[in-house]
This record gives sequence, structure tokens and C-alpha cells, in this order.
Amino acid sequence: MLSNLEITPDEFKVVQKFLCDACGIVLNDGKEYLVKSRLGAVLRETEYNSASDLIKALRVGNASLAVQARVVDAMTTNETFWFRDANQFEELKRVILPELMKNRAGTLRIWSAASSSGQEPYSISMCVEEFQRSPAANGFPKKAVQIVGTDISTSVLEEAKRAVYSDLALSRGLNQDYRSRYFQKCSDGWRLHESITSRVRFQQFNLLKPYAALGKFDVIFCRNVLIYFSEDVKRDMIARMAQCLNPGGYFLLSSTEALPRGLDILTPAGSGMVRYHRLKGGC
Ligand SMILES: C[S@@+](CC[C@H](N)C(=O)[O-])C[C@H]1O[C@@H](n2cnc3c(N)ncnc32)[C@H](O)[C@@H]1O
Repeated sequence: MLSNLEITPDEFKVVQKFLCDACGIVLNDGKEYLVKSRLGAVLRETEYNSASDLIKALRVGNASLAVQARVVDAMTTNETFWFRDANQFEELKRVILPELMKNRAGTLRIWSAASSSGQEPYSISMCVEEFQRSPAANGFPKKAVQIVGTDISTSVLEEAKRAVYSDLALSRGLNQDYRSRYFQKCSDGWRLHESITSRVRFQQFNLLKPYAALGKFDVIFCRNVLIYFSEDVKRDMIARMAQCLNPGGYFLLSSTEALPRGLDILTPAGSGMVRYHRLKGGC
């Protein structure tokens, strides 16, 4: 007997096109299993009886905006953990924050462009907290820092805003010191302290859309998201993000990602094994 999750090759192509148009994600051939496993949850929450029915509605344009958003949400990969690429966070504390605190006027703004369930922007916020409490911060004016976390997936943003994490989530990348300093046990997990959450605001945002309304930033973390897009989309997004940086601002991909060739508005920065980029033009 066929399950209600079976899809034909043509239906798979419809999902590929829908996702690419809606959020830029390129779903490679052979990933039918991913569609089947992820659409199951959408079927349970909507009126559609089978993946075929749902895909037909996407194809003919009958699916409501809420259903379309739910499909996008279900198809995103939200893997993340605390201090992912730990060296980059060390560099943030050691080099980037001191320099920005010294040279910038007004509030520092940092964008976590694919924030998922919050571990990345909150790790940044913990670095800011640690830097501001350290002797290294003596002599610098204490500056306000605003961190903006954006993601297309509303479900991970809800988790991020709640800032309550399970033991398992905490066990991934967080050291014991930070755990005891910044988390408090609550009925359903560990609540992150307000000193860390208050610096971060979250917003649903599709990286395919124009960025101007987000304002200018001093640092952009754009890590482990461009891998899902085509080379053209990736290049376009990085070029547009560079325009959101203040002069001399910093741009961080993950340690396993590289800037597409020819994007010479950004220049390599960083020291030793830690690679990142800066907008040309000094502070
Ligand atoms: C693998 S997670 C990376 C999380 C974090 N940056 C890290 O490195 O740990 C990728 C995130 O990108 C988000 N995403 C995918 N396509 C997007 C788009 N078009 N606009 C905004 N966010 C998107 C997904 O929802 C997902 O939460």
C-alpha cells in the first residue's frame, strides 16, 4: 500500500521550484527522502491528506500563505549549537570588539543573519558580556551593543525568543562556567539570563528580500546558511550584506565556507587559523 507521503519525480520538481522561489534553498536531486520525512509534519497540521495533495496546491497556487510558510519552515535545516567555530568567538572578544568599542561612535550593531534557535546571537551576546566585564574593557567607554537575530523559520524564532534550552541543547558547545553563570534551571529546561537576552532582538526575515530596512551593522555573522543557495544567490546576498556594513565592518562566514571569487569589496582579515572578512574602507 502506498503511504500518503509518496511523491512522484514531477512532484519532487514542484517542491524544488517552490523552495528555490520562496527562500532560495536549492534541494538537490536525490533528496526526495527529505521531502517525505519533513512534509509529514505539515500534513498532520493542515487539511491536506497526502503529500501529493499538498504539492498540487503549491503548484496551482491554491496553498494559503500560512501553508506555504509552514512548508518552508519544515524544509529548513536548523542545526546550530553554542559557540560554533569557537575560535571565531575568541577573535570577536580579542580583536573585533575592542577595536569597535574604541573606534565607533554610538551603539554597536551585530547581525546574526540565520540565527536559528538563538545559540549564535546569544553566544555573541555572552562574548559581549564577558568582554565588557574583563580588564581588557577598562579604558573603553561602555557601549550599548544591539544584536539582531533573523531567520526565515518562525518555529525556531519562537524557541530563540523563549530562550529556554534543554540539557541536550546546553551540552552542545557551552562550557560549565557559562552554563552556571548565565543559565537558571526552570520547570522545562534552562532559562538564559536577561543580561544576555536583553541585547538580542529577533525578527522573521527572508534573506532573498532587500536588507535596507534592517539598517547598518558593524559585524555580520552569516554562517552555515549560504551553503543551501545557488552560487548566484550566494554572491548576490554577500554583495548586498556588504552594503549593510559600516566602513571597516566585519563579515563572518563559518570556518568551512569561503567567499565566492571576485567579491573584492570584502578583504580577508583575521589571524592564524581564524578567517573572516572586512569591508574595505577602514573604520
Ligand atoms: C544550519 S542553520 C545555521 C544557524 C547558525 N547560523 C549556525 O551557524 O549555527 C541555517 C538557518 O538558515 C535559515 N534559513 C534558510 N533559508 C533562509 C532564508 N532564505 N532566509 C533566512 N533564513 C534562512 C534556516 O531556517 C536555518 O535556521
